[in-house]
Amino acid sequence: GTVQLIGVPMDLGASRRGVDMGPSAMRLSSLTAQLERLGLAVQDAGNVPVPDRTSLANEPRAVLDAITEVCIDLADRTAAAVRAGIRPLVLGGDHSLAAGSVAGTATALAERGQRTGLIWLDAHADLNTPQSSLSGNVHGMPVAHLLGFGHRPLRQLSTAIPAVSPEHLVYVGLRDLDDAERAMIRELGLHAYTMRDIDERGLRAVMDEAVSIATDGTGGVHVSCDADWVDPAEAPGVGTPVRGGATLREAHLAMEIVHDSGAMVAMDLVEINPILDRQNQTAELCAELIASAFGRRIL
Ligand code: ARG
Ligand code: MN
Ligand code: MN
Ligand code: MN
Repeated sequence: GTVQLIGVPMDLGASRRGVDMGPSAMRLSSLTAQLERLGLAVQDAGNVPVPDRTSLANEPRAVLDAITEVCIDLADRTAAAVRAGIRPLVLGGDHSLAAGSVAGTATALAERGQRTGLIWLDAHADLNTPQSSLSGNVHGMPVAHLLGFGHRPLRQLSTAIPAVSPEHLVYVGLRDLDDAERAMIRELGLHAYTMRDIDERGLRAVMDEAVSIATDGTGGVHVSCDADWVDPAEAPGVGTPVRGGATLREAHLAMEIVHDSGAMVAMDLVEINPILDRQNQTAELCAELIASAFGRRIL
């Protein structure tokens, strides 16, 4: 198989600077070597162009429009890869990029008459709209847009509308939600596994259910992994760290279970912030987790 790296050096969706360096940090890690060791061909498609935020008018609408432009470009590239049977591995960059990457996967699967499953590994639900957001940060909004809510140009990036149906989305690792997000999860009946579910039932049981939800009635699964789903003790170099996350071993097991499902058609790895990291340890950890998701085994 072939994996295509697509870098998105974007921090327009976050208030803290630094996640725009995530793609460089990942390319300087052992990522490519690890994937090649698995017998995969790795194509590096370079970076999607992202405007510098100092070049934008300092108003919410300008930021939303700039992120939408990046997401249009990313959706085209993701769709082209999936259509060609190549698995895109999108290296972020802040999580707003997933409004584009997942939309692209959904477009390619829709051409085969199929819907898209989405596993969202994150401390956060990223379910705000520009109306509900308390921070105004667009990296807290991609899921709402994929489900068809929010800023019209950003929610219409896929030929599949909405890109993802609520029943095909599953969250794993939640531990920091806004009131509006909690209400939305309840109203839409979203499948949401919190850290409490992992603590009480174990990662294996939770991930087995997550995989069945995301594969039930879909043609494949897009895995969107925010590095902050892992505990900051292991992954300190992230945009918005939250205590109480997945352990290193839980994170690997989750990736191994994703691999075993055989259903992953695309993956995002986002929110790596090298400024807050120690010796690229977070990027290195993410490279190892990605290798697990693409089939690395101990034996
Ligand atoms: N819920 C908060 C917000 O909307 C935090 C979002 C954090 N998202 C992320 N991708 N790190 O601002
Ligand atoms: Mn997060
Ligand atoms: Mn369901
Ligand atoms: Mn996120």
